[in-house]
Amino acid sequence: MKSTKILPQKVNGLSGSIVIPGDKSISHRGVMFGAIAKGKSTIRNFLTGEDCLSTIDCFRKMGVSINLTDDVVEVEGKGFLGLTEPSDILDVGNSGTTTRLILGILSGNTFHSCLIGDESIAKRPMNRVTAPLRMMGASIDGRSEGGYTPLAVRGKKLTAIDYVSPVASAQVKSAVLLAGLNATGVTSVTEPAKSRDHTERMLRAFGCEVEEEGLKVSIKGGQALTGTEITVPGDISSAAFFLVAGAITPNSTITLKNVGMNPTRTGIIDVLTRMGANLSIENERVVNFEPVADLIISTSALSGIEISGDLIPRLIDEIPIIALLASQASGETVIKDASELKVKETNRIDTVVNELTKLGVDIQSTDDGMIITGSTDALNGNQVSSYGDHRIGMMLAIASLITEGEIQLENPESIAVSYPNFFNHLEQISVNK
Ligand code: S3P
Repeated sequence: MKSTKILPQKVNGLSGSIVIPGDKSISHRGVMFGAIAKGKSTIRNFLTGEDCLSTIDCFRKMGVSINLTDDVVEVEGKGFLGLTEPSDILDVGNSGTTTRLILGILSGNTFHSCLIGDESIAKRPMNRVTAPLRMMGASIDGRSEGGYTPLAVRGKKLTAIDYVSPVASAQVKSAVLLAGLNATGVTSVTEPAKSRDHTERMLRAFGCEVEEEGLKVSIKGGQALTGTEITVPGDISSAAFFLVAGAITPNSTITLKNVGMNPTRTGIIDVLTRMGANLSIENERVVNFEPVADLIISTSALSGIEISGDLIPRLIDEIPIIALLASQASGETVIKDASELKVKETNRIDTVVNELTKLGVDIQSTDDGMIITGSTDALNGNQVSSYGDHRIGMMLAIASLITEGEIQLENPESIAVSYPNFFNHLEQISVNK
């Protein structure tokens, strides 16, 4: 049974600092690459959200010994072909990254496997990954001819392809590159715009050669990964909720520590800066192979902007919280070229527009995004839902900081997918007197 939570009421300001939990994309990849590497890998500051725990569970079912203590994961890598046939169905839970990346590893392996996930995963298109993998020779079957879970994979020796992807998707790119690791020849993926490059960076950390030329990434088959040590930076997609909270809540200044600043992920920083936010970036450093910084944000007056084009893949997961940000900016914010929102954990054009409308925001959906007309009037309370989508749940919880009247949030549990201690952090920085 899913519960309903009464969200914290309007606060007097936000103050103090939070250490942002580990990056979800990097945590997944740490476990996966550690499992297919030879030798031991240690992953520190691992995100213990439900999605990343699903990845651990899947690889344990393929015979990999994985030890998780607090936020440190030790993986005893078995090599790409050292994984063993799972005697049980691999359950990916709510995790699209697990589903799509693991398909690349399973397709080029030697055994049979079945994948299943929750009701949200069952609605998410898998043909964007199964189509290029089949071009490489993969044998994948499933609902709607392999378009949706449940899926069944019969491992095969694969052949490299030069794939031109119709979508800028790191999950598609990573699945094809992972399959390419054990394929004959050089596998390439060219994207219409650059998606997050954590796979490329981490493959190099595991000792692989990865070539990049503009929007094309290539990998030669037959390369082995060697176990390594990784420290995961904080997730900028989690920090985004508090960046927006700091910008829109009156009387606020907060510091967000240890935020990953990979340029393929920092679209939210560009948007905040262009809207006029009071943001400073301090203590810039590189941790392993990823840039990291501390961010300080304070309340400021904001103005609406247009968000489109190549910027979209650099902030795709932040659009729900950017919609709330835009509701507090003067003038209009237009978000376009973002039809990928329709195939996330929920159709995020619909869920964002529905729930913000309930709170009194002037917001309209379009074919590929939304238009928000901002105002600094307080939002109104209402009964809203996360629809089982962690980022919708967190966006609504941040909205409650500037709401007159009570917000009741259905299914707040979904937030644990990416930010298990979200409400503790929110309480930690809230000033109530
Ligand atoms: C992810 C890629 C993105 C993002 C998702 C995580 C990844 O999805 O939305 O939350 O870790 O590769 P797409 O590849 O579908 O754009």
